[in-house]
Amino acid sequence: MSSSQSAFLKPSGHGALAIDGKAVSTHVIEQVAAGAVKLAAKSVKPGLAVVLVGEDPASQVYVRSKGKAAEQCGFLSVQHTLPAMTSEADLIALVEKLNADPAIHGILVQLPLPAHINSTLVLETISPAKDVDGFHPVNAGLLAIGNMERALVPCTPAGSMILLREAAAALGRKLAGLDAVVVGRSNIVGKPMAQLLLAENCTVTIAHSRTADLAAAVGRADIVVAAVGRPEMVKGAWIKPGALVIDVGINRVPGEGFDAQGRPRTRLVGDVEYAAAAGRAAAITPVPGGVGPMTIAMLMQNTLTAATRAAG
Ligand code: GUN
Repeated sequence: MSSSQSAFLKPSGHGALAIDGKAVSTHVIEQVAAGAVKLAAKSVKPGLAVVLVGEDPASQVYVRSKGKAAEQCGFLSVQHTLPAMTSEADLIALVEKLNADPAIHGILVQLPLPAHINSTLVLETISPAKDVDGFHPVNAGLLAIGNMERALVPCTPAGSMILLREAAAALGRKLAGLDAVVVGRSNIVGKPMAQLLLAENCTVTIAHSRTADLAAAVGRADIVVAAVGRPEMVKGAWIKPGALVIDVGINRVPGEGFDAQGRPRTRLVGDVEYAAAAGRAAAITPVPGGVGPMTIAMLMQNTLTAATRAAG
């Protein structure tokens, strides 16, 4: 089957098809907005509260994008910005207030939190039903036992799974039975990604920094998900010809020359050596424009899901 069957896969220029995460995320946001319109008939408007502690510039950018997407979806969008010296007790009190607020269906506390605050404690205070990040142990547990009806699934793995299904469908393949390797074992991406692949009946390996022969583990895989946060660590030459490659990494590295203000240029690269991998894979996500936009789209999806469940 040809790539023309999906509007979301484009030639990468290296052989593989590039999976257009930006286009898929736009589609997801449109669907979520349509879902919010339906919910309005029941007089429910999904509400998302995003809590930012401190002034980390990257976090400020993320939080602004989340608020903008929530407005695009027709949600109530609330942002709480607290000073960096906010106490753990005050942050927990805010989360408890949001837990009790019927207008709020989703709560996201932007990470990282300042060092004096116990992040685990804060994340465990969020009501599991409003935990749109899917980081609460109750949601991690529901995912682990395969109860997707009740779980809220972490956004980046959920978005990666949609891209993978889109690529497989466009190539006329089934995911069931394929060998998948997830490189990285974080609670936010690696572990939930492995659970989702398992739920799709893939045979799943989780590789990590202590894996004895990473090249061999990647080389066996029909599906590679790279989520290690190390620039171009997964080499193109390791990729099995025809594999599907999902690159979760977003790493800023030195670029060439200087910008208009005389500052050294930088560029974004993934965890996969893109051009070389795209010379062997059947489909691959670019960086930027692959998994990144999907994370925010899935946050909107989770907020709609939480609001729908709350509405009965
Ligand atoms: N910081 C970077 N990514 C994320 C995310 O997905 N959720 C939260 N809460 N914080 C983040």
